[in-house]
Amino acid sequence: MKQLIKHNRAKVIDLLAGRLAFERAGVRLYDAVIAKLRALRDPGLLLVLGQLQDYRDEEKEHEEWLATQIRELGGDTSVETDMVRLETRESRGIGDVILDGDNDVMHLFHALYAAELADNASWDLLLALADEAGDRDAKKAFKRRLREEDKHLGFARQVVERLARRSVLGEDVEMPTHP
Ligand SMILES: [Fe+2]
Ligand SMILES: [Fe+2]
Repeated sequence: MKQLIKHNRAKVIDLLAGRLAFERAGVRLYDAVIAKLRALRDPGLLLVLGQLQDYRDEEKEHEEWLATQIRELGGDTSVETDMVRLETRESRGIGDVILDGDNDVMHLFHALYAAELADNASWDLLLALADEAGDRDAKKAFKRRLREEDKHLGFARQVVERLARRSVLGEDVEMPTHP
């Protein structure tokens, strides 16, 4: 992160803190979706649980890695920075769907899909910045996590697509078990 922080340390910490807030929320989203699917006992949907658990663990790793980076840069992970407030506001609607009593499977995955689109875009932005700043280490670390986000996004997209094919086209579809 050395090259990146030469430009504006506070802004880099702000961006990472916003990401941390989102990833932390992401873990809670996955936990809630997993718990709700278990309770629904739909055999087709139980097949996706293993994959969701893996992605939940990856979001947890993202959260922990970001917290470590912020501390190493001299930041405080408990501070509500500008981007923390923004990412929290942005993810509020998604949390409304997934964390409350809504048990409609399409609603849950549609909201998770929206979360992963934002998740993906934010890591992509960090990668573009690291690239522009010529920060090879940061670039490598961001790229690794963006690759994981690509899988999360692809999987959510596939589930939403199959649920839509089932409900709109009346097709007998199987849920994906991997992206
Ligand atoms: Fe993530
Ligand atoms: Fe993700």
